[in-house]
Amino acid sequence: MQAYEFRYGPKLIAGPGAARRLAELLPRGRCLFVTDENVRALGLADAVLDSLPDAVIFDAVEQDPSRETLMAAVAAGEGCESVVGFGGGSPMDVAKLAAYLIATGEDLDILWGVGKALGQKLPLALVPTTAGTGSEATAVTVITVGGSEKRGVNSPSLFADWAVLDAELTLTLPRSVTAATGIDAMVHAIEAYTSARLKNPMSDMFARKALRLISDNLLKVCDSPDDIDARGKMLLAAHLAGIAFANAPVAGVHALAYPLGGHFHVPHGLSNALMLTHVLGHNMEAARPLYAQLGAMLDPSVKDIGQQGQAQAFVQHLAGLSRAAGVPQRLAEVGIGPEHLDLLAAEAMKQERLLINNPCPISQADARRLYEAAL
Ligand SMILES: [Fe+2]
Repeated sequence: MQAYEFRYGPKLIAGPGAARRLAELLPRGRCLFVTDENVRALGLADAVLDSLPDAVIFDAVEQDPSRETLMAAVAAGEGCESVVGFGGGSPMDVAKLAAYLIATGEDLDILWGVGKALGQKLPLALVPTTAGTGSEATAVTVITVGGSEKRGVNSPSLFADWAVLDAELTLTLPRSVTAATGIDAMVHAIEAYTSARLKNPMSDMFARKALRLISDNLLKVCDSPDDIDARGKMLLAAHLAGIAFANAPVAGVHALAYPLGGHFHVPHGLSNALMLTHVLGHNMEAARPLYAQLGAMLDPSVKDIGQQGQAQAFVQHLAGLSRAAGVPQRLAEVGIGPEHLDLLAAEAMKQERLLINNPCPISQADARRLYEAAL
């Protein structure tokens, strides 16, 4: 067995109503509360904010948050003693990096990449309101720079102190968001399980459990949004997948999904769903044994049909889940046409930090072909 390292996630606080415990977790003093307008409008944060009367509220985080938004959050949080990220991946990502920048005063431009942020951030609690990104479990923040380029800061210094999983917060999510964010979590689990460099027995265990929970609960939460038990299982699954890919990073599906968000503002989960089966098809030769293992786990009835059949059954199972959840399947449905293929393929090549984790190489010509297949 090869040597490996594994990091567990933040301290987990889980259960219906868990978010109302935030005030008792945080240190005394003002906290910067990072969220977005949609979360505010839905009233999801009202009960929590009642318990944090001195909080400085920053609710201007947009989808695919920009450097400017991040720096505005940092300015708003000056003098704060702690930070809360409350919402989907975007508010949580901004909160992570804001907690670091407020405490250290460092220049953002020296932090891009892996392991560059070495200072001490403010105490940080992350509260997801979607079951998808797993951002509350990871030390990665993705920020959009210069209008379209996605850049990441990935460093253990960004791990949250507390992750709060409160299924009550996800009961009002619209079906389209529930489905797309659930597919994002599913892709995290699959890409962690097949990650080329850092996969290990621990990340495998988290990825398998996450995938099992998603396969069992994704359609339940789409069809019965009030099912708080299934909602809780999806939140847990997204968190477990987050821990898995915090250790065994995501790869080709995410590399090809990011340009769809960066240039066309396709939501992150939907971007992943659109590229999922095409990239898995490309990876099939290299990842067949692993896809077969996952296929046999999700559907024991395929255990006697051989590795090739199991791997194909796995990809078909995922495609079936995505379709049944009602997620768009073609790039044309989000306004992307053949005239965009060259741009997308060139942009995907910039995601080197993700492409190196793919089970097999993806060239620019491969990327163009995969986008074309997804049109
Ligand atoms: Fe993702």
